[in-house]
Amino acid sequence: MKTMIKVFGVLLACTILMIACKHKGNEPVPATTNNGGDNGGNNGGNNNIDTGICFSRDILPIFVSNCAIPGCHDAVTRTEGFQFTDYNSIVSKKFVAGNANETELYKKITEDKPDDIMPPPPNSPLTSAQIVLIRRWINEGAKNTTNCSSPCDTTKFAYAADIQPIFDKYCKGCHSGASAQKGIMLDTYTGAVATLNSGRLLGAINHSAGFTAMPYGGAKLSDCEIKKIEKWAGSGALNN
Ligand code: HEC
Repeated sequence: MKTMIKVFGVLLACTILMIACKHKGNEPVPATTNNGGDNGGNNGGNNNIDTGICFSRDILPIFVSNCAIPGCHDAVTRTEGFQFTDYNSIVSKKFVAGNANETELYKKITEDKPDDIMPPPPNSPLTSAQIVLIRRWINEGAKNTTNCSSPCDTTKFAYAADIQPIFDKYCKGCHSGASAQKGIMLDTYTGAVATLNSGRLLGAINHSAGFTAMPYGGAKLSDCEIKKIEKWAGSGALNN
């Protein structure tokens, strides 16, 4: 009798376990994996969730500053037919929305052969953060998102925290290293101050008459970003 009860008990336990397991198997999978499973994103594979990537705010400035350089992939030169000045031109050639690995520009920015990598030396390669952003953007369908919110606070204009990041994002690709346009360097404090003191910085970012509009070939900085740079300049251009 005792054995019978034991066997019955074990059977019952098994049945409950099986039901429990089966039930678990039918539950919707929590959205914890991201699209490519490879990019540290937070999308959860669910296309309805806004991942926060915004084309005009996060992606376009990378292309304008690092690829649409005069003589390279600007609207005039279009080396090998590739132009990277706006959404339509970027997605128009050998571009597979949803698949970064099949997209030519992605292959080029991640190429490990020095002869093939883009941007070519002596330009700096894209940073890994920029590459991850571009990969996510392509794999998530390469959407043309614009007018996204960009929190920006004009009361914050310290050089290291607020000003250099603007130059890094919009200017550095063309204004650093051996190939810096017009020898203007915007990747260091020294270079930024020299540019300010040349009297050409504020007119260029304000698109004032008599200056070449900057970023070259790209959209004007936001009013808030311009205001921050002006406040930094107006309060002694400190290295703070
Ligand atoms: C795509 C490349 C590119 C980007 C991005 C770029 N520049 Fe330039 N920049 C140039 C070129 C080319 C020139 C020379 C233009 C000329 O005078 O013909 C130039 C010239 C300038 C000048 C001198 C302009 C004048 O009228 O004397 C300043 C100042 C300047 N850039 C600042 C910036 C700042 C600040 C940014 C970012 C907000 C920026 N640039 C982004 C390519 C670029």
